[in-house]
Amino acid sequence: MKDTENFLTDTEIVSNALNDYMEQSRSKMAPVIHQKPCEHIAELLKLDELVTDGGLTGDRLKNFLSNYLANTTRLHHPGYLAHQVATSHPTGALAAFIDATTNNPMAINEMGPAATSIEYFMINWMLTKVGWKTVPSHEQLDLASDHGAGVLTHGGSLANLTALLAARSAMVPDFWVNGNPGNLVVLVPEQSHYSMKRSVAILGLGEKNCITLPADKDGRVLPAQIPALINQLAQEGKMVIALVANACGTAAGLYDPLTEIAHICRNYNIWLHVDAAHGGGALVSDKYRYLVEGIELADSIIWDAHKMLRTPNVCAAVLVRQHQHLDHAFAQEASYLFHKKDQPGFDFMPRTVECTKAGLGLRLFMTLAAMGEKGLEDHVNFIVDMAKKAADYIDTQEDFEIAITPETNILCFRTDTDNDLQLEIRRRLLGKENFFISTTLYRGSRWLRLVFMNPVITMDDVKDLITEIREIKTSL
Ligand SMILES: Cc1ncc(COP(=O)(O)O)c(C=O)c1O
Repeated sequence: MKDTENFLTDTEIVSNALNDYMEQSRSKMAPVIHQKPCEHIAELLKLDELVTDGGLTGDRLKNFLSNYLANTTRLHHPGYLAHQVATSHPTGALAAFIDATTNNPMAINEMGPAATSIEYFMINWMLTKVGWKTVPSHEQLDLASDHGAGVLTHGGSLANLTALLAARSAMVPDFWVNGNPGNLVVLVPEQSHYSMKRSVAILGLGEKNCITLPADKDGRVLPAQIPALINQLAQEGKMVIALVANACGTAAGLYDPLTEIAHICRNYNIWLHVDAAHGGGALVSDKYRYLVEGIELADSIIWDAHKMLRTPNVCAAVLVRQHQHLDHAFAQEASYLFHKKDQPGFDFMPRTVECTKAGLGLRLFMTLAAMGEKGLEDHVNFIVDMAKKAADYIDTQEDFEIAITPETNILCFRTDTDNDLQLEIRRRLLGKENFFISTTLYRGSRWLRLVFMNPVITMDDVKDLITEIREIKTSL
């Protein structure tokens, strides 16, 4: 029996089930979150039996999928307000299906010319949004020119690591061969994502050499105090190889003042890396582009399409202003040789940690091609506007306060000031299965945290959430 024999009927089973799933989620006919112990779910899904017997097709597939979907966290549900993960666009989701079926490991052009071409196209689209020069076609490639470059990675954490690797290589070219001279430091915002410290440690710089930048009372980097820190570090014999700015921070979604920071970095010859994993979404919006003003002065940027751009997991970009830096990130010579090959197309492999790489660009491309640039811009504006409207509403409730007026689609708020109370409220809220929200530590206190990702959420949903929180609080 051919293994494609049931493909069409099974695909129909899957697409019908997923269509119902999205519909039920959107119309709140199923819980947004439903947490059961792993053993319970494994038993329900008959994992043991299926592994032993095989034959996952037809009704077996239908039953399996039905139980599987019943135990997912529903990102298409308007009550989903927890984390910075896109409500995936259905056309973008088809890209993952196409990519898995063709299974082209496209880091080498000959292993997936269509996927590689799309990654090349999407990288150029992203470079244009930043304001950087695009990568010329293979035929026009001039390695001496100052165009940008980029590569898509499996997530922002890996993208941050790659960007810092490029910084390390640019600032200390012989690190790759000789190792750490011992005096290198990286400056990071107080509110930086944990992947930043991890990257510094993974790069062999030592976590203690990840030094926190001075911040204002809201947690934004304070440029005026950076020179004093740099001078003090220089007196201690330290060399700053990179300074990281947020666009935006994970906890409260605040953007650092990029232009001012960039000028300081230029004065002191320090690599500026901007973590725009989440807030890079502002790059597609005329209304909110001002938030990332100055981003084009950076040396490297990361930008996750699977956050504000409705792209299914995962599709993150690491972009550099000058392509040489990404070419040098992994070795000094190899990538030039690579570009000079006779075969057509680009090979992304020299620029990435990964060897086998999924066709991530297809996810962003198909999402964008379904929505159009205007549709994507409207989505970004909508989710940011929603956070602002929700903040205005919550701020008028006597028993609630907001942490800060949101700049993007992230909103922190609380009822009362007790840290444990916020955690208890979230715990109970999740148990009720109507809303899924997160909490965060911000300025030393615990806050409830909403991330607006869903294109169908309304202010009525926000009001219902506040009512449910009040009910929980009264019941305690
Ligand atoms: C600012 C920031 N940087 C990096 C990351 C990590 O991205 P990923 O989850 O794609 O690895 C996140 C994730 O939320 C983030 O908010």
